[in-house]
Amino acid sequence: MKVQEARYVMSNSDYEKCPDPVLPEYAFIGRSNVGKSSLINMLTGKKSLAKTSQQPGKTQLINHYFINESWYLVDLPGYGYAKVSKVEREKWEKMIGDYLHNRENLICTFVLIDIRHSALAVDLEFMAGLGEAGIPFHIIFTKADKLKPNQAINQMEAYRQKLAEVWEEVPPMFITSAEKNEGRDPILEAIETYNQS
Ligand code: GTP
Ligand code: MG
Repeated sequence: MKVQEARYVMSNSDYEKCPDPVLPEYAFIGRSNVGKSSLINMLTGKKSLAKTSQQPGKTQLINHYFINESWYLVDLPGYGYAKVSKVEREKWEKMIGDYLHNRENLICTFVLIDIRHSALAVDLEFMAGLGEAGIPFHIIFTKADKLKPNQAINQMEAYRQKLAEVWEEVPPMFITSAEKNEGRDPILEAIETYNQS
């Protein structure tokens, strides 16, 4: 699938104010600074569609982007950012949780993991929560340019083994680099398969 058109629609703090839940939607979620917004820009081929920053905590709302006039990509705030106040952090986590649990047209979630890190409790707990709620997810490893290709594959396989300890079926995994523009097609193909089913 090619992304022919990608445009910003709206930002909300409340999932109920998001666009009518009638078209398929895919959300990107992960720790602050993992590269969610950068990945959206990479997938759509538009460098400044979603705002990115070196400082964690840049994305603070539920942001909808309309793709090829037929489906939505959603950029979410990050979880687990220690430097914002507890009140702010809890507000974001509630916003994300309400969105993920209630958004009727959410087909699949992509959980982003920085490929340099070994499995972190905060991510494993987040995925366990998705599993308990029956929310399908795939895993996208980001910032692969920071490692050598074989190291990146080793990191992914180690993560797969870690998940296999608790998950009967490990979700599909993708390796990406927004910096090097790598890993786009398999993700767009996965989305296309969902859109067609
Ligand atoms: P929040 O909105 O704050 O939760 O962050 P985010 O997950 O949206 O991350 P964002 O896309 O803003 O990127 C955070 C930082 O990581 C920026 O400085 C990006 O340039 C950098 N970054 C993102 N993806 C990559 C990548 O693939 N490779 C490298 N080297 N840097 C990346
Ligand atoms: Mg962001």
